[in-house]
Amino acid sequence: MKVLVAGGAGYIGSHVVFELIRDGHEVVVYDNLSTGRRSAVPEGVRFIEGDIRDLDATTRALAQGTSSGSFDVALHFAAKLVVPESVSNPLAYYHNNVEGLRTMLEAMVKTNVRTIVFSSTAAVYGEPDKSHNGECLEGDLTVPINPYGETKLAAEKMIQWVAQAHDMNYCILRYFNVAGADASLRIGLDKDQLTHLIPLIMQTALGLREKLQIYGNDYDTIDGTCVRDYIHVSDLARAHILGAKYILDNDRSVLCNLGSGQGFSVKQVVDAALKMFEFAYEYAPRRDGDPAKLIANNQRAQELLGWQPQLSLEQMLSSDFAYRQKISTSSHGEPA
Ligand SMILES: NC(=O)c1ccc[n+]([C@@H]2O[C@H](COP(=O)([O-])OP(=O)(O)OC[C@H]3O[C@@H](n4cnc5c(N)ncnc54)[C@H](O)[C@@H]3O)[C@@H](O)[C@H]2O)c1
Repeated sequence: MKVLVAGGAGYIGSHVVFELIRDGHEVVVYDNLSTGRRSAVPEGVRFIEGDIRDLDATTRALAQGTSSGSFDVALHFAAKLVVPESVSNPLAYYHNNVEGLRTMLEAMVKTNVRTIVFSSTAAVYGEPDKSHNGECLEGDLTVPINPYGETKLAAEKMIQWVAQAHDMNYCILRYFNVAGADASLRIGLDKDQLTHLIPLIMQTALGLREKLQIYGNDYDTIDGTCVRDYIHVSDLARAHILGAKYILDNDRSVLCNLGSGQGFSVKQVVDAALKMFEFAYEYAPRRDGDPAKLIANNQRAQELLGWQPQLSLEQMLSSDFAYRQKISTSSHGEPA
């Protein structure tokens, strides 16, 4: 496949680029480097610095294709994703995540690139359906509880309407909690999304915070702490290739959850991490808006895409830790 990856210098996008290259595809990365790193793009992969909100630049990048022809598919990772920031600055989130996508879709229609794979999120569900015991199915109600989730839901709907009007196909993937680093340790999560459990554990283990706080131990779960679904970034990356192939081969669109389908409580994740490295933790009051359980139903991705998550929670924790150790000891904090 010939693939344009918008946001390919970021955490998830760079893992997808690595998997695409390993699988023999031709890749061009388009990124404004607002949160991504130029060094995350492998040598030999063409990199274009540009913003998806810039219609002319995005149209030029899409029109150029790869050295051997037009793009078969565009992958979209180019978004802002920090929930508290989206609450304090919703306009920036609508501008980047909604207007940015609108501009990119316009450029795709103009250049006749009619297949898109889009990164969405479990945040579109909001509170999970009470009758499913924390499990989320793609057909469930979508009622986001923050501007980030709202922008992603608006983006999903925009893609669906534009696809219908312009004979396009899409693969919308709703990720659950993504963690881990590529086995090569050349890429990983560089920044700290401080609302996410695994980055917080890593920071505490590396001595950058004194104690990890576990928010609430009186939920109706196995040990009273919240239960979430964690998925290794390399498993997630492989699903994008399968998703792109599925829509190209079948000339149809699809929307799937991407999670392991397994729930781990915060305490279970902490205990797994404590077997690998030391850190201190304490219990703190519940946070507003945290549902007790959020788990992906991943049947659709398994059945339609033939995707199967392969990497364990332990592999997420150990690879993430190893990558962070590596960049904290390299001279400029840059991965080697
Ligand atoms: N990381 C997660 O846990 C998670 C969970 C659910 C969904 N997602 C979704 O996955 C996607 C990628 O997330 P990530 O964790 O890799 O984030 P990231 O910040 O590491 O990557 C985003 C990339 O997009 C680029 N970018 C942002 N706005 C752009 C613009 N206007 N024009 C061009 N490039 C732009 C950034 O420079 C960066 O390289 C996002 O769409 C996010 O909503 C992530």
